[in-house]
Amino acid sequence: MTTMATKRQTVLITGASAGLGAEMARQFAAKGHDLALCARRTTKLASLKADICAAHPARRVEIRALDVNDDDQVFEVFGAFKADFGSIDRVIINAGIGKGAPLGKGDWAANRETAMTNFVAALAQSEAAMEIFREQNAGHFVMISSMSAMRGMPKAMTTYAATKAGAAHLAEGLRYELHGKPIKVTVVYPGYIASEMNDGAAGKTPLMVSTEKGVRAMVDAIEKEKDSACVPALPWALLSKLMKHAPIPVLKKLM
Ligand SMILES: NC(=O)c1ccc[n+]([C@@H]2O[C@H](COP(=O)([O-])OP(=O)(O)OC[C@H]3O[C@@H](n4cnc5c(N)ncnc54)[C@H](OP(=O)(O)O)[C@@H]3O)[C@@H](O)[C@H]2O)c1
Repeated sequence: MTTMATKRQTVLITGASAGLGAEMARQFAAKGHDLALCARRTTKLASLKADICAAHPARRVEIRALDVNDDDQVFEVFGAFKADFGSIDRVIINAGIGKGAPLGKGDWAANRETAMTNFVAALAQSEAAMEIFREQNAGHFVMISSMSAMRGMPKAMTTYAATKAGAAHLAEGLRYELHGKPIKVTVVYPGYIASEMNDGAAGKTPLMVSTEKGVRAMVDAIEKEKDSACVPALPWALLSKLMKHAPIPVLKKLM
């Protein structure tokens, strides 16, 4: 077991029933971490737990149903996991949806659902995580943002990108506040990584990587407790500069 795994022994992951959350759970278990996993689909969580416990019998895995849009449930579930393990050493705010529509084209419901799930619910999860970390005076706070947070994005991405920029800023504000204290903050900016969310984009972009490869880069950045990381670094660390600074006519030609 690595020193870092001992230091951040128990990892709470939201949105752990599928995609990046489920694969992070598998990879953190393989590195010796115990897991507190939640999402709405408990059948998927139960089967993930069975797989992880079969592969790593020494690991402890607890699962709970959580709809992150139910504010009270967020605090109850985080508190119950803390009671299970005694301490929660790392929280990964990962639950999210990729819905959205161009503003003013009649799909307010999809944009609202995206804003509530990706930003307001991320705020609730941040509050619940920070209550635990402040009480412990220790912890690693991890926000899963997106490369789309680098710049305001057009059309169906507009609301999603804004929520991901907002979530990143929540975490950055915490890092500023907590500088020099024993609570660390990491913001992860994934590029295209295969998952349920971007099934529709599969085969449409050469930049998509497998779930396993993409999540390996995420887990590596999280274990190193980087302040922030574009993942996989190639090509996304380079593309982040272009996304932030290219003039709009140039961007329009590219995407
Ligand atoms: N894949 C990518 O290329 C990519 C790129 C950039 C950022 N991201 C971000 O990475 C995170 C994970 O995305 P993914 O690609 O793994 O998507 P995914 O395969 O669709 O998985 C999303 C996860 O979030 C959970 N979730 C959604 N709404 C929820 C709710 N109301 N309450 C609780 N859990 C909820 C889902 O669980 P239930 O449905 O069981 O509740 C599921 O476990 C998201 O925040 C996403 O924005 C992904």
